[in-house]
Parts: sequence; structure tokens; C-alpha cells
Amino acid sequence: MARTTSYPFGMATEDTHGLGYHRVDDDPNVNVLIATMDGTASWDATRRLRSWERDRLRLAPGDRLLDVGCGLTEAALALAEDLGDRGEVVGIDASEQMLRVARTNARSARCRARFTVGDACALDEPDDSFDAARSERTLQWLADPAIAVAEMVRVVRPGGRVSLIDTDWSTFTIDVGDDALAALVRDGMRTERDRPSNVGRRLHDLVGAAGCVPLARTEATQTWTTWDPDESPAPLGCFSMESLAEDLVASDRLATANRLRFVSTIHDAARRGQFSMSLTMFGVVAVAP
Ligand SMILES: C[S@@+](CC[C@H](N)C(=O)[O-])C[C@H]1O[C@@H](n2cnc3c(N)ncnc32)[C@H](O)[C@@H]1O
Repeated sequence: MARTTSYPFGMATEDTHGLGYHRVDDDPNVNVLIATMDGTASWDATRRLRSWERDRLRLAPGDRLLDVGCGLTEAALALAEDLGDRGEVVGIDASEQMLRVARTNARSARCRARFTVGDACALDEPDDSFDAARSERTLQWLADPAIAVAEMVRVVRPGGRVSLIDTDWSTFTIDVGDDALAALVRDGMRTERDRPSNVGRRLHDLVGAAGCVPLARTEATQTWTTWDPDESPAPLGCFSMESLAEDLVASDRLATANRLRFVSTIHDAARRGQFSMSLTMFGVVAVAP
């Protein structure tokens, strides 16, 4: 029998979301997807990459910045401090629900801020109309990230900056004291849903293929060493084991009959303190042609 657990913030086991940010607004647990964005924003690795990016974007007062797949847009709003009163932040996202939160977050912005529902692969913005464009952890959800990078390059003026930050799920590690189970999780994360989940390590090549000159690249690894599954349905900013199990069943990597045992084995390992995970994200900043 499935264990029913109550979590803080009104979340319950059944509220855990699927792994996808492809179509946020169609997800019955859109609020969990949005809350997870707050979790990922608080990762050390995310903070380090965003700070690294800010130093290399070198935004100036009056600049126009585009954030593609902006989500809650807190990263672009932090960068907006460099744009002064005359600058502008434009956020594009496929999700109206994400943008609803972004608009609220932007109320305190010093510069102008505009948010539009749109597709990263077909930006409804003129050529050469931005001084810089960034995209963070969005390319991994697109069927062809190269199209989105080409679009970013199109709308950035020659000599402007293009910044990409993304995850490489092939770097994902997990230790729950059960090698076979850990291998199953790793395999699921690396190949999940045929999305370009290893795009992080390809960012440098992607900007090069789009005609940019890479200025700098970096990486940052997020580690989780504790997680209490009775307090939170998922490690901070991460997928739940229930949602991962559902994906593994859907892709025939896990038998339906083994689903609950999969989840409870990982939860029990975490309760014993035998739980760790790591994931590496990459960043590149380049000059547009
Ligand atoms: C994991 S979230 C990252 C959000 C934000 N960039 C951040 O790092 O906090 C991925 C975002 O990409 C958006 N997205 C997915 N497919 C998209 C597309 N084709 N065009 C624009 N946005 C898309 C999702 O709605 C979601 O807000």
C-alpha cells in the first residue's frame, strides 16, 4: 500500500509533478512546477553560474536584455540592476502561468520589463534589437536547441552578448546504497523522454555553430547530501522519486509491479541518511556575429 505523506506548503505525495517543462500550462500540478523553480534558483550551483554570467555579460545602462524561457525571471531581474532606468528586460516563455509570476516579480524592477508568451524557436522580435540575450535551463526542453540559439543570435545586435546556462543530465549521479537501482535512475535521467538532456556540455559548440565567438565557459556542480522524504516530496528543486518512477514505467525501464518498491527503497535510504546526488550545469557567454 502506498504511504501517504503530508508535506509543508500544502503539497502531498500525489502533488508531485512529472519531469517536464515542455508544456507547463497543461500540467495539472503547475504550481509545483513553479515552486520547483524557486528551489532550483536557490541551488549553490545556480547562484554561482548566474554570478559568473553577470560578470561576463557586462550589461550597461540603457541596454536591452532578452531572457528566453525566462520562467519566473528572477535571474533577468537581478541582471536588470545593471540596465539602469533607461534599459529594458524582455522575457519570453511558453507558459502564461510562469509569466504571471514573472510580472509580479518585476513590479520592483527599476527598468522597463515586458513579458510575452512565445516560442524560443520562433522569436517574435526584430533582428538586431537586443544588446544581450540569455537562456537558462530551457534548451534542454526543446527538440532542436540549435534553432533557439540561432534565433537568439538573430535578435542580438552584432557584437552583443549571448549567454547560455543549461544542465547536462548525463553527469547525474545518485547513491542510495543500491547500485542496480542507482543505475536505473541514472539511465532514466540520461535518456529521459528523448529530450536533449546532455545539452549542457554542448553549449560551447552550439554558440560556435551559430556564428558566435565564445568568450568564456564554466561549469558548476550541485550536490545533495541530505533529504527527508517525510518533509518534502523531492530533494530541493528536484524531481520526486514518484514522478521519476512514473517516467521509468512509461518508458518500459521499470515494471509497474516494481514501482512502489523503487520509490520506497530510495525513500528508506534517504531516511537512513544514505542518500546523495549530484548534477553539473554548464555556462557559456559568447559575442554575437
Ligand atoms: C526549467 S524552466 C527554466 C526557467 C528559467 N530560465 C530559470 O532558469 O529559472 C524552463 C522554462 O522554459 C519554458 N519553455 C519550455 N519550452 C519553451 C519554448 N519552446 N519556448 C519558450 N519557453 C519554453 C518553460 O515554460 C519554463 O518556464
